[in-house]
Amino acid sequence: MSNGFETLAIHAGQEPDPLTGAVVPPIYATSTYKQDGVGGLRSGYEYSRSANPTRTALEEALAAVEGGARGLAFASGLAAEDTVLRALCKPLDHVVIPNDAYGGTYRLFAKVNERWGLHYDPVPLGDLDAVAAAVTPKTRLIWVETPTNPLLGIADIAGLAQLAHDCGALLVVDNTFASPYLQRPLELGADIVVHSTTKYVGGHSDVVGGALVAGSAEVGEQLAYHQNAMGGVAGPFDSFLTLRGLKTLGVRMDRHCDNAERVVDLLTAHPRVTQVLYPGLAEHPGHEVAAKQMKRFGGMVSFRVAGGEAEAVEICNRTKLFTLGESLGGVESLIEHPGRMTHASAAGSPLEVPADLVRLSVGIETIDDLLADLSQALG
Ligand SMILES: Cc1ncc(COP(=O)(O)O)c(C=O)c1O
Repeated sequence: MSNGFETLAIHAGQEPDPLTGAVVPPIYATSTYKQDGVGGLRSGYEYSRSANPTRTALEEALAAVEGGARGLAFASGLAAEDTVLRALCKPLDHVVIPNDAYGGTYRLFAKVNERWGLHYDPVPLGDLDAVAAAVTPKTRLIWVETPTNPLLGIADIAGLAQLAHDCGALLVVDNTFASPYLQRPLELGADIVVHSTTKYVGGHSDVVGGALVAGSAEVGEQLAYHQNAMGGVAGPFDSFLTLRGLKTLGVRMDRHCDNAERVVDLLTAHPRVTQVLYPGLAEHPGHEVAAKQMKRFGGMVSFRVAGGEAEAVEICNRTKLFTLGESLGGVESLIEHPGRMTHASAAGSPLEVPADLVRLSVGIETIDDLLADLSQALG
């Protein structure tokens, strides 16, 4: 019997505790485990950097909802990303990255891994010809974000998977914005899925975490080796919170999408908004691809305003219910100015974002309250 998404999110890896019957996997706050004689493990666990039962529950659930062979949970999204690069790349290798990636991802490539000889090229990933032109014999990975943060660009996962495999590279997809409820990259041919579980998977802005899900056991094993060797693992309490969030991902995402669609209606009709970036809009250049590979279009909405940076910043300062803050994907609505906040590290680079851009993470509050707040802030 194959189970549906919500069933997997609630039950995969989460059998009732064999000792007590607890229906929720306990927080195993232990660093080590008693061994029955030298070399005789009692439970398969020996040290909590290598494995911890609370983290195992989360990792199995993540693998199930993404349809992968192996899930791995990390202390942050960036710890997960760095593990991919260390596990699969070596000096002088080359990676194709999106020309509008999350600023922290760009910083990881440009300021950290480039120093160790891992070369990269930022490319508009919506343009398969541009990606093909950027690939070199040294290209080891094509790194995709779709939708991208913060410009909501869309890349064709199936097309890029084909292209990557034709040239002997792997396709890595950062699925943070869509979440596995809306998009399953492994089913479209990707090799590895990356998450900042800080966002929709955790869903309550109370925990920082990251995840990798590998499509094959072989790649999963390579990543798992480096997870243990590098040590950026999720702790048991963080794993517990993230797993609790995952259980309600489906119902939350539907409400995020409902609310985002209403917000998009308001923004597109507003005279002071010059452009709305949302893949659900028919005029979005990636709309057709998004409609093909996503169940719905998500809870993230960006827009540009007349009046440039000063007006964009003022709008961010004027909202009352939309909280001014970084991060996204929680139940509460957030607003931010990417140029000065989340993407400040991309200033002066090919990934610099427009100064008149505002990003919304549309939460699951009562929609009329959200619309009233945005109307008053836009003036
Ligand atoms: C798309 C995307 N990927 C990765 C990350 C990094 O995740 P973390 O902040 O959990 O390290 C973020 C953080 O904002 C993100 O938005």
